[in-house]
Amino acid sequence: MNGVMAAGNLPRAEALIDLGAVAHNVTSLAGLAGQSGAATMVVVKADGYGHGAVEVASTALAAGATWLGSCSLDEALTLRAAGLTAPTLSWLDLPGTDYAAGIAADVDLSVASLDTLAEVRAAAKQAGRPARVHLKIDTGLSRNGCPPDQWARLVDAAARTPEVRVVAIWSHLACADEPGHPSIDAQAERFVEAYRVARAAGLRPLRHLANSAATLTRPDLHFDLVRPGIAVYGLNPTPQPADLRPAMTFRSSVAFTKRVPAGEGVSYGHTWTTRRDTTLALVPVGYADGVPRSLSGRMQVWLGGRRRLVAGRVCMDQIVVDCGDDPVSPGDEVILFGPGDQGEPTAREWADLIGTIDYEIVTGMCRPRLRRRHLPAPAPSLAGVPR
Ligand SMILES: Cc1ncc(COP(=O)(O)O)c(C=O)c1O
Repeated sequence: MNGVMAAGNLPRAEALIDLGAVAHNVTSLAGLAGQSGAATMVVVKADGYGHGAVEVASTALAAGATWLGSCSLDEALTLRAAGLTAPTLSWLDLPGTDYAAGIAADVDLSVASLDTLAEVRAAAKQAGRPARVHLKIDTGLSRNGCPPDQWARLVDAAARTPEVRVVAIWSHLACADEPGHPSIDAQAERFVEAYRVARAAGLRPLRHLANSAATLTRPDLHFDLVRPGIAVYGLNPTPQPADLRPAMTFRSSVAFTKRVPAGEGVSYGHTWTTRRDTTLALVPVGYADGVPRSLSGRMQVWLGGRRRLVAGRVCMDQIVVDCGDDPVSPGDEVILFGPGDQGEPTAREWADLIGTIDYEIVTGMCRPRLRRRHLPAPAPSLAGVPR
């Protein structure tokens, strides 16, 4: 752990976000996109995958991203309220959404049906300015894109609606995290055909399809804009190596220690018994703070320079760490997961242990008792800048 992270009063439960890592990751991803002539939209939905949308977005824009992506208009308007003016797409809003507020705030809207097009058109009239829209085609994920058999009608209608400006066509991949999966090429073919239809209708839109995995592994699918999410936060969704640094460290500190004789049951249900006289360290984080209870009996933490087993069940507010005869004291830092550089557990390790993905682990780190703190990105180096 570096000096900054170790300094100050140790928190009860803290998600420490290394914005330097975010900047590094965005530079790396935007560099890949740039080699294909594509721009980069950083996906900051779900409060930046639990990392803080505004802080991540600001850092990403300074590091080479030029677009922001959010799930809902509320999320996009939060970015605007923070003073972020970069082009921003909101892609999953409900019927009856106040689209006029989004149009007034210059937020791009995703449209995948004639019904939504009609709503956006009415909102544009209300806002007194054209809406910027991205038409979404379902190329095979079978979620919220326009079905291919309705695409030509949608595209024609959009092209003939003066209240909307079609900025882009776009789609989302189902299996990009499995490089070589046949659905990737099948989706890409449908996407290319959807673009042909859009052009035939007189549109000249941008195209975007690639999530993190495709940004990392399929330069041929970068088109005009890539939309990485998880890789921005330093987690690699592909089996291939990538130049990424995990940005989140989840940490706490020892509240209390005690010696316990051999043969004592530990934590609820006594699922674990001390095998020898040992020191137990109580750490005040539990499932209320984002430690999955299903990690009970399987998780380790980094404490006092090494990994140690969490004894017995994860409780709502606490876990108990078996420290043997090692000297541990109240106030010692405990890392639950981090980048893994020192040997501490990682979010991926947690995900593997409980049968989920690291996306869910980090995105779940938004809890009332969990403090989030951002370590600023270093100022961009001036090396090589002409004076
Ligand atoms: C439409 C869309 N584009 C891009 C992304 C980013 O995906 P990833 O986090 O896998 O890069 C997401 C995330 O789920 C998404 O929903």
